[in-house]
Amino acid sequence: MQGTQIRPARSDDDERIRCFLAGLSLHTRTLRFFTGFSRPAASLVRALLAVDERRDVLVATLDGEIIGHAMSYRGAAADVEIAVVVTDRWQGHGLGPRLVGALLLRAARRGATTVGMDVMGDNRRALSLVRRLWPDATMRVVSGTVEVTAMIDRTALFAEQRSAASPLTV
Ligand SMILES: CC(C)(COP(=O)(O)OP(=O)(O)OC[C@H]1O[C@@H](n2cnc3c(N)ncnc32)[C@H](O)[C@@H]1OP(=O)(O)O)[C@@H](O)C(=O)NCCC(=O)NCCS
Repeated sequence: MQGTQIRPARSDDDERIRCFLAGLSLHTRTLRFFTGFSRPAASLVRALLAVDERRDVLVATLDGEIIGHAMSYRGAAADVEIAVVVTDRWQGHGLGPRLVGALLLRAARRGATTVGMDVMGDNRRALSLVRRLWPDATMRVVSGTVEVTAMIDRTALFAEQRSAASPLTV
């Protein structure tokens, strides 16, 4: 994880996001987007970078390249719905939880108290992450998708931020 940074997405990240999406395996794309596309559409690139009062986006970078992406948007079942993806080579190194933690910290600062995430039923890695981050989460299975809802642990997030050793540009 040395050299990785987490920062807000910028409008000039479009080419970096395109490369990031193009580099994801079909499996990872399917787990994140629930569909496997061959070439990332311009509309998807725009959607992944759109930030406003309802949507927030963070990217993880290494040597200027994007290796992870996490977004939140105002939800219906929860205050914020989130989605996260880490490039294949970097999965299993703790980047996903770092992105989620940074995203939820920003959401909590804006008043969010609950989080939601949709996960494919056979996505063991994401479900493992969910169980670790939110042991008391409610999980509802709807047509093969697990709809996760959990309370945001604001105390833990703020404490983690104070003790964070790595540079987080959030
Ligand atoms: C889900 C995801 C974001 C987790 O991020 P991450 O940085 O890999 O998270 P972690 O490093 O904490 O790993 C999560 C778990 O998966 C396991 N794992 C991750 N990558 C692995 C790999 N390549 N091989 C085997 N196990 C792996 C980890 O050991 C860990 O399991 P544990 O909780 O039992 O220890 C990431 O795997 C990913 O991008 N998946 C595809 C997109 C997706 O599923 N998004 C979620 C729905 S929006």
